[in-house]
Amino acid sequence: MIEDNKRVIVALDYPDADSAIAMAQRLDPAISRVKVGKELFTRCGPSIVERLQGLGFELFLDLKFHDIPNTVAKACGVAAELGVWMVNVHASGGRRMMEAAREEVEKRSVGPARTSLIAVTVLTSMERSDLAEMGLDIEPIEQVKRLAALTERSGLDGVVCSAQEASAIRQLAGDNFQLITPGIRPAGSEVGDQRRIMTPADAIAAGSTYLVVGRPITGATDPKAAALAVQAEVDAALTASL
Ligand code: C5P
Repeated sequence: MIEDNKRVIVALDYPDADSAIAMAQRLDPAISRVKVGKELFTRCGPSIVERLQGLGFELFLDLKFHDIPNTVAKACGVAAELGVWMVNVHASGGRRMMEAAREEVEKRSVGPARTSLIAVTVLTSMERSDLAEMGLDIEPIEQVKRLAALTERSGLDGVVCSAQEASAIRQLAGDNFQLITPGIRPAGSEVGDQRRIMTPADAIAAGSTYLVVGRPITGATDPKAAALAVQAEVDAALTASL
């Protein structure tokens, strides 16, 4: 099992730097990490990464790169030079793309720990009919398992997956393969637009390593306390699983 007492990644889904920084200032880098996605990064560029790191946060740069191997590898290399904690690619870019990205991240990581490189398998917005239209006439979970196995064989650190997929992937992957899981809703919190949700404790029991949590924390009256409560639920679930 992975030794890490910070299992919560707070999604900073904001359209501009001021809002993201204001939220980060209401969180505690000792309790959680943060995630920057395409909207915020496209608006602000690397300066938002540097500003969040300046506040002490380790950061997941969720840009889901997908292109020819050389292009993705170079982009991941820049992310590693920025010192981000984690960056991701689409597993459907294939083995050569993932291996090239991994090599570049290894070469260009700065700081004591190498930047983690993970992959997205099948977007959770895709249903069986969407895959069929793309010529893949199989259940999404089968494609998820294939791509998770390919990700592991390509030497990446883990995959993003829904909590519902976590136990199936956990069965086929090694103990150190990280499962990063969004769609988390602590008991009693608003579901919002998420369709398949799980509580933090259930996600950990299903084999998740890190939980991506947005609105249940960022929309709370006290975001830091909300993040601490999720981490406490994770700690209890991890202890129970020993
Ligand atoms: O606010 P909420 O907790 O729903 O935020 C979840 C975060 O995880 C968002 O940044 C969303 O884009 C991301 N995500 C997701 N489902 C996926 C992949 C990523 O909700 N399948």
